[in-house]
Amino acid sequence: MATLEIRDLHVTVEADNATKEILKGVDLTVKQGETHAIMGPNGSGKSTLAYSLAGHPKYTITSGTVTLDGENVLDMTVDERARAGLFLAMQYPVEIPGVSVSNFLRTSATAVRGEAPKLRTWVKEVKETMAGLQMDPSFAERNVNEGFSGGEKKRHEILQLELLKPKIAILDETDSGLDVDALRVVSEGVNRVRETGEVGTLLITHYTRILRYIKPDFVHVFANGRIAESGGAELADKLENEGYEAYVKGGASA
Ligand SMILES: Nc1ncnc2c1ncn2[C@@H]1O[C@H](COP(=O)(O)OP(=O)(O)OP(=O)(O)O)[C@@H](O)[C@H]1O
Ligand SMILES: [Mg+2]
Repeated sequence: MATLEIRDLHVTVEADNATKEILKGVDLTVKQGETHAIMGPNGSGKSTLAYSLAGHPKYTITSGTVTLDGENVLDMTVDERARAGLFLAMQYPVEIPGVSVSNFLRTSATAVRGEAPKLRTWVKEVKETMAGLQMDPSFAERNVNEGFSGGEKKRHEILQLELLKPKIAILDETDSGLDVDALRVVSEGVNRVRETGEVGTLLITHYTRILRYIKPDFVHVFANGRIAESGGAELADKLENEGYEAYVKGGASA
């Protein structure tokens, strides 16, 4: 079983000619087959954690370690991380003008699998996965995220997730901005991947409503750049009722 281990991770970002520490000692272990939800106030560093794991150049790791199956993830390029089995669905997916969804997916799959998927089975796989996510087949010919609605972008992220079959998937607010039907469709996609037992999922969210569809094994409260408390699914209900006040006291989060 693949294991992502984050130990005492500290991350800074350069902003306004100053260095600001955003992550202040994150400890987290995610194993293949497990689902972890991370909840926390705005600006507490959740997306920073996601970007840092994916290797975004804006974020500097000042100390701590991240390993996947004992291999040092922090030494890997963004490409190598993807090949090692890390996947990030971004809170704000970027547009890639001039690159069709179909080309993008095939290029990504080729990079991750180490060889080009066989065309006939691939086309079928893409079609079926798109149908499962109730995406119109015409999306395959559109440029990545260009003019996509918020919900369409999120479906496209889950389409990638289902096709790329990572070991560890980080989903940053995949539920934000989704209507009730889209939320169900996207959750079903995540659950299909999850049911294989071959992916560990880190679900960053603000809302317990997605957790009605995707049952987390663990819930973590993220506050002030670290995990302040961990528990089971019941912790999400407590947060919904009581908010984060108890966790952010004594240090503003932003
Ligand atoms: N590239 C950057 N430049 C400047 N500041 C940044 C950058 N990235 C993150 N920050 C700051 O780091 C803090 C944490 O941001 P982050 O996006 O990680 O929060 P978050 O927990 O994901 O919040 P939200 O729930 O609103 O998505 C914020 O104060 C943010 O302004
Ligand atoms: Mg965020």
